[in-house]
Formats: sequence, C-alpha cells, structure tokens
Amino acid sequence: MRLDVFTQIPHAFAWLTEHPPVANVLGGELELRLFNYRDTTPLRAGQVDDEPYGGGAGMVLRVDVVAAALEVVYDGEPPARVVALSPQGRQLDQALVEELALEPVVALLSSRFEGFDQRIVDHLCTDIVSIGPYVLSGGELPAMVVVDAIARRLPGALAPGSGEHESFSTALDGGLEYPHYTRPAQFRGWTVPDVLLSGNHAAIDRWRREQSEVRTRS
Ligand SMILES: C[S@@+](CC[C@H](N)C(=O)[O-])C[C@H]1O[C@@H](n2cnc3c(N)ncnc32)[C@H](O)[C@@H]1O
Repeated sequence: MRLDVFTQIPHAFAWLTEHPPVANVLGGELELRLFNYRDTTPLRAGQVDDEPYGGGAGMVLRVDVVAAALEVVYDGEPPARVVALSPQGRQLDQALVEELALEPVVALLSSRFEGFDQRIVDHLCTDIVSIGPYVLSGGELPAMVVVDAIARRLPGALAPGSGEHESFSTALDGGLEYPHYTRPAQFRGWTVPDVLLSGNHAAIDRWRREQSEVRTRS
C-alpha cells in the first residue's frame, strides 16, 4: 500500500524510515511519500498558514495551500481516504488501523499551531483521526503513529510469528497480550512463573491464554 504524508517537517520522518518495522517494508509492501506543503504552496516565500479570522493567537493552515498540495500530487483524483490528523477526530484504535491498512492509498494530513482551516476538514478530507485525547504541537508524531501501526501489519514488517499474538489481535480475541519474561530466571528474588520454564508447551499456551483473559478483564 501507499501512505502519503503531507507535512511542514518531512525530515522529521527520517528515523521512522530507518528502523523496523517501517524500514522492513519500505520499497516493498509499503511506499511512503512525504510532501511538504511549502513545495506546492501558491503563496510567496513558502507561506502555508495565516492569522485566524476573528482574531486570536496562533496560525491556521490555509485551505488554498492544502488544496494546491492535493491537486499537484493527485491531479484531481485524491485517494478514497484523505485523513486530517486532529485531536478532535475519531480516536485511533486497532480496528481503525486494520481498516486503513486495507486501502491501497491513504493520505495523512498534518498541521501545526492552531490547526486546519475548517474548510480543509469539511471539503478536502474524508476522515478526521486523533491518536488520543491530548493535544500535541503538530501532526508529525500522529502521522508517524499511524504509519508505524499500519506498517507493522504488512507482510515482512515483523519477524515471522511475532505479530500474531499481539494485544488486540484476533488470535487473542481482541484482548491484551500475556506477560513475557526472559533471562535471568532469578533477579533480586523476582522469579519467572514455573510454567514458562517447564518446557510443557500445552501448559504454556494454556497459561498465556488465561493471563491474556485476566489482563483484558481487569
Ligand atoms: C496544537 S494542535 C491544534 C489543536 C487545535 N487548536 C485544537 O484545540 O483542537 C496542532 C496540530 O497537531 C496535530 N495534533 C495535535 N494533537 C493531535 C492528536 N491528539 N491527534 C492527532 N493530531 C494531533 C493536528 O494536526 C493539529 O492540527
């Protein structure tokens, strides 16, 4: 699939693309394109935002700037999902990640400062997505969250088997994952559950399933 991110800070995405899971699928299952509103703005001197009508602090991302960016990139045929990243949107969860991961192309629009001119959201976007009920300074981190969450669902993103029993997966009936332990088996008197050291795989599977259910209920 392809993810197109529109941002004022494309270089912020460098670390994301250099590390798994995104690095594992780039150029294969995932194409990630980064667009800077400043490169396509119809305004002079790279201007992309402006003061809010009605007054008040902060700058607002302009509708003509976003429209121009979408026009240049999609030539009148935007993808079926154009997502405005905003704290006011539908909260991202695994179901929404799976839904977006089914799309061939998703555009992710980030903003900064006061956010989007409302006409961007009303007329140029199909979805508004929040990564949680708190306000960040820009849409770059939310875009990275969405890219990472989608990328790790794609074939080849993770080591074989490691994505199957994760929290919210169907393998765990949408519940939380069971606890993990690794060496040393004893540390400061803190022990590892005996069953995990038993070598009895049926008992381990049973224990993990129970632990997952307990965590999910509490
Ligand atoms: C400072 S925020 C704007 C907040 C806006 N004035 C409000 O009160 O709803 C600037 C930008 O960061 C991004 N952003 C901040 N928090 C976010 C969140 N929880 N989820 C998604 N995007 C977020 C959005 O792109 C937003 O337009």
